[in-house]
Amino acid sequence: MEALTLLTIALGAVPTLYLIYLSLLPHPLPGIPYRPSSARSLLGDIPALLTHLSTHPTNTFTTYTTSLMRQLDSPVIQIFPRPRFLSLLPGISSVKPKVVVLGDYATAYDVFVRRSREFDRSPSIGNMLLGFIPRNHIHLRTNGTWKAQRRLLLGAMGKGFLFGVLAPVIGERAERLVDVWKEKGKLAKERPWSAQRDLYLLALSGVAAFTFGGQFEEGLEKEVGVGREEPSERSEGEGMPDGEDSDQPVEFPEQDIPDIFRASLEITRTMGELRGSLMPRVKWEIVRRRERLKWARTVMADTVNREIAKAVEKLDRSREATPECAVEHMVAHERNLAMKEGRRPDYFSPVMVDEITGFMIATYETTGSTLCWGFKYLTDLPSIQNKLRHALEKGYPAALKERRSPTIEEMNNTDIPYLDAVSEEILRFANPATGVDRQAVVDTEILGHAVPKGTIVACLLPEPALISPPEIAKNLSQRSSSINSNSWDDSDLAHFRPERWILHGEFDLDAAPRVAFGLGPRGCPGKRLAYMEIKAGLVSVLWNFELLPCPAELSGYEKLVLATQKPKQCYVRLREISRSWTL
Ligand code: HEM
Ligand SMILES: *[C@@H]1O[C@H](CO)[C@@H](O)[C@H](O)[C@H]1NC(C)=O
Ligand SMILES: *[C@@H]1O[C@H](CO)[C@@H](O)[C@H](O)[C@H]1NC(C)=O
Ligand SMILES: *[C@@H]1O[C@H](CO)[C@@H](O)[C@H](O)[C@H]1NC(C)=O
Repeated sequence: MEALTLLTIALGAVPTLYLIYLSLLPHPLPGIPYRPSSARSLLGDIPALLTHLSTHPTNTFTTYTTSLMRQLDSPVIQIFPRPRFLSLLPGISSVKPKVVVLGDYATAYDVFVRRSREFDRSPSIGNMLLGFIPRNHIHLRTNGTWKAQRRLLLGAMGKGFLFGVLAPVIGERAERLVDVWKEKGKLAKERPWSAQRDLYLLALSGVAAFTFGGQFEEGLEKEVGVGREEPSERSEGEGMPDGEDSDQPVEFPEQDIPDIFRASLEITRTMGELRGSLMPRVKWEIVRRRERLKWARTVMADTVNREIAKAVEKLDRSREATPECAVEHMVAHERNLAMKEGRRPDYFSPVMVDEITGFMIATYETTGSTLCWGFKYLTDLPSIQNKLRHALEKGYPAALKERRSPTIEEMNNTDIPYLDAVSEEILRFANPATGVDRQAVVDTEILGHAVPKGTIVACLLPEPALISPPEIAKNLSQRSSSINSNSWDDSDLAHFRPERWILHGEFDLDAAPRVAFGLGPRGCPGKRLAYMEIKAGLVSVLWNFELLPCPAELSGYEKLVLATQKPKQCYVRLREISRSWTL
């Protein structure tokens, strides 16, 4: 009797369990292609993704989706990267099982720019930053609160400040890098060395000058007592035997850096660990307990609060003083706003602190990664490197004649279309932010297929360096040519070809897809600063050095996807350019 009851219950349970099983399988959106076997797995695309990642060192999530687009022969696909059963676990609110990926610029442009009311900020970038800067505007939907916070940044992002006040500081930082590299070059005697750390520190010191002012770092140098890198005796003595094994990389001792820089590096590194986490809040609870991170956050908070206090004091002393950094702009903005609204200014509010902190984490890594990729490409494409150097020499005749580097004023006041073109092409290939996404805030459609509210729409344009036999790109764009006809030749997008950006001798912004800084109202507000830093770095280095080829084993294109997408290897082998012939 009892056995029978159990059997009945067991039999009754089978359909129930089966129904639960079915409900936990991915629920594809009708009409949008997907990988059929992924839809039959509780883990969705995860097993196939893991296999893909393990097959080749340059494979990434992006190459997975682009190869899937190729297989499915569609510019719009859906993937299932988040198992549905996760949503049964407590405390996981951000699981969004439906993800549509766009591989076509015309469709992406439509979604991100023209239909930005239907598709707004998604939680994915924010998830990396939620614990660090919860009040930063990056998390907000595009509404009045966002607008008000963005306005706080306006002065600091304006041309007057960037080109007038900040540019000389950025130029000075780039010159300092050249000095350090000349020293290193003398010691290395044309052996390669890794340029990564120097380039990230260059970008970090640029963004620190933007945030806290050009004077900020001078104070820090005194604190640390070094400032510049002094290659040690040891590296000169033992490290570099003359002549023999000239492919062996030189290792320079790491420069001693100020605490605030170490704090930025630590926070950004942790941010990278949080990228793509299925359970960002849970992960955050784990990482925030680490002593190193606690230290870094304290250093960051103390610095930000101290610099706000200094800016308030300066403004109290003189209301007419021109703001010399982002913090001073923001303090002035808050004072004016408070006056208008008849309230007391709140200089140390969580919003102020999180907006300022936001400048100091991750943004330097995007810029630094761009420079790292850039010097790799230019090393491996010497004809483009030479053409760019030529364009610079033609663009800065006075500097050439006087045998000195171009000044930042010259850089600022001279249009060199080929420099713009190379910078743009580097960004197109490097795509340091990996891609952008949005979330549908209403039930809507894409290319005629229903897309319900909550769906994540990601734009991961095919990575030109790694994939896309040209026919694919062509096929993809033909499919969606009904939306918007592109003016460029898609079959050519797989090549690194700066000339594409030049039309009738002028730089042409519409020559190819541009997504490195995002698209639409939520695109990156820091891009003017980023371009300035990237160009100053390119000009200073190429003006002074020839980038010689590095050995193959140091010239890999593997990526590390952390807070940004960066090269695993970034070696340079420098030959200083002697300009005595110009006499
Ligand atoms: C090469 C350098 C950089 C790259 C490639 C980059 C890329 C991006 C991308 C892709 C986004 C998301 C855009 C979207 O969703 O449409 C973004 C957002 C943002 N970036 Fe950048 N960025 C860079 C440098 C900077 C710098 C230097 C700053 C500031 C100092 C900055 C501040 C921001 C902010 C505040 C947002 C959020 C905007 C919002 O949510 O409204 N970025 N960036
Ligand atoms: C804007 O959106 C955020 C959520 O992203 C919300 O917290 C805030 O209250 C909204 N502000 C307005 C004015 O609707
Ligand atoms: C840079 O150019 C802008 C105009 O485009 C000018 O207002 C600014 O003063 C220049 N800055 C420098 C440092 O030459
Ligand atoms: C391109 O599309 C055509 C049909 O539209 C198809 O026959 C061909 O196989 C596709 N090529 C590739 C490489 O996907």
